[in-house]
This record gives sequence, structure tokens and C-alpha cells, in this order.
Amino acid sequence: MSIAASSRLRRLRKSESILRLFTETDVPVRCLVPVWFIVDGVGVAEELPLGGGMWRYSVDQLPAQAARARAGGAEGVMLFGVPEVKGMQHATDPNGLVANAARALKADIHGSKLTIFADVCLCSYTPDGHCGVWHDGPGHGIAHGHVDNDASTAVLARMAVMLAAAGVDIVSPSDMMDGRISVIRKALDDAGFEYTLLCSYAAKMASAFYGPFRLAADSAPQHGDRRGYQMNPANRREAAREIEADVLEGADMLLIKPALTNLDLIRECRDRWDLPIVAYQVSGEYAMVREAANAGRIDFARAARETLVSIRRAGADLVITYLADDVWAGRI
Ligand code: PBG
Repeated sequence: MSIAASSRLRRLRKSESILRLFTETDVPVRCLVPVWFIVDGVGVAEELPLGGGMWRYSVDQLPAQAARARAGGAEGVMLFGVPEVKGMQHATDPNGLVANAARALKADIHGSKLTIFADVCLCSYTPDGHCGVWHDGPGHGIAHGHVDNDASTAVLARMAVMLAAAGVDIVSPSDMMDGRISVIRKALDDAGFEYTLLCSYAAKMASAFYGPFRLAADSAPQHGDRRGYQMNPANRREAAREIEADVLEGADMLLIKPALTNLDLIRECRDRWDLPIVAYQVSGEYAMVREAANAGRIDFARAARETLVSIRRAGADLVITYLADDVWAGRI
């Protein structure tokens, strides 16, 4: 083939129809998983005033929301519990917010058709905002205070079993403790939940892009930061080790987060492993697009769609995203 003939790549951009015909990457609505913050109270269904995209609901509102999500084409939802009063006991409480939410959804005609993901982490429950159990004394080679890895995985396993019993389909540990996938898998199996899926936040960075979420969940660490367990965003090889560990420990799917700042890792993970990949387009990623659009700098619909296409092109099967609502409503 001559270079001249093959170099007319613009032939493939000749018309709208040709552009559509040869589009390589789609973003079907079934791939988009919205995030719902479950809160106390009755009659709460509101968008948080934090750049948009973050919705919180009380349990009684879930049937109506499930109907809306199903009408939009959603197959799954990701639930986070945000109790008004903090306390670690809420994380494992069988009558806690997320357990009640899961039961309400499973009992509903539309909700029962949704696959329920639920976050498994302690940060929106612990008064100090850490993702695990804080230990004040020395340990882990640190002199003054640390998040105790194995004490944390024990609580997270109890939380996962409690959620599975309430009807959660896919438990999703986002804490980044070592060994938690095998500990949680074993606890689920021992309790008879062999068919509860495990979505592991395999590579989760200590990222500045979680800002709006932490305001929504009131979960910013009260002392220290998360760099002792979440990953250094500079580290690609270490991310590969995190991912491999979770594959070997029995994860059913791998989650990478944030999405846009880790497209390379999504691609590497896609090339190396055959497990499904979930990308989490986090709150700050949404806020960036929304606020820039509000300021008149970019077009919301086009920019939002471009982010989703890029994440899919990198190799993600599913995208957990605050954009789902905008897609259902035809805004993007
Ligand atoms: C809990 C958790 C966080 C997010 C998801 N799970 C916050 C954090 O790690 O600080 C952030 C999601 C978002 O920003 O949308 N560990």
C-alpha cells in the first residue's frame, strides 16, 4: 500500500455518518453507575451544593430514585452511607443506612432490578475520618499513631458480611488496607455468601480530587492524611503490585481511581488482566468539568462526554460517575 493512499485518514472523517459508523468506543448507559449518598431522615432527595452531581437520599426516597435510574437505563448503583452522628458501630450495624437502603431497593419493583454496589470503608463512620481503625500508640514502625491494618480488615470483613446479608450484590472495599480482599472473601464464604461479588479498589490514589466527596460525607481525616494507606499517585509499578495482589486474593473485578489521572493504569490493567475493570470518575473530576462549564470556559455536554469516552477507550468496562444523572436526563 502506498503511503499516499493510506495517509488520507480524513476519508474516515468525511461525513457525520462515516464518523458515526467508524466510532471505535461507545459509552452505553448500562456502563454508568451513579453514586447515591444514603442519609438519615425522611423525604431527603437533594443535590449537594458542591459543584453539582452529588445526590443524597433518605431510604424512603429510593423506590422513586430506582424507577428514575431504571428509566434512564441504569443497571447498577453505588451506595455510600453518611450517618448524621459518626460512630464506628454504624459501619457494621445490620440496621444501618446502607443495609436499610439495600433492603428497600430489593423490596421494590424497580430497585430489585438494580445491582447494588456498596462501599466498604470506615471513613464516613469513624469520628476521626480515617478509613480504618486508628491506634494511638506505636506500631507499623511508626512512633505516634497509625491506622491498624489487621484490626481494620477484621471490621471491614464484618461490614461486608452485614451488607451481603442485607442484599448488597457487590461489596466494594475502598479502604486500601493490605490483605483485605482475602480476609473479606473468606468471611463472605464462611457466612454462606459465596456468590456476593467483590469489587476491589485495587489502585486508589491519595488524591486531591476527592475534595467534594469528603465534604459530602464529612469524612476528611481529622488528623494526619491518607497517604499511609492510599497510594502515591507517582507510582506505576506499585499500582501493578496492588492490582496483582487483589487478583490473587480473589477480587471479581478491579477498580481504579481517580479515572482521568490514571488512564495509563486502566490501560495497563486491561492489557495484563482479563478481569472486568471499573473506573471511578471521582467527585473532583465531575466538579472540574461542571465548574469550568459554569464559568463559560468549556461546553459541559461535550467535555463530559469526552471524559467518559476517554475512560472507556483506556479499557474500563464500567464507570462509576456523577455524570449518570446528566446522561439519563439527556443533558449530555
Ligand atoms: C472512601 C472513599 C472516598 C471516595 C470513595 N470512597 C474518599 C476518600 O478516600 O477520601 C472518593 C470518591 C469521590 O471523590 O467521588 N474511602
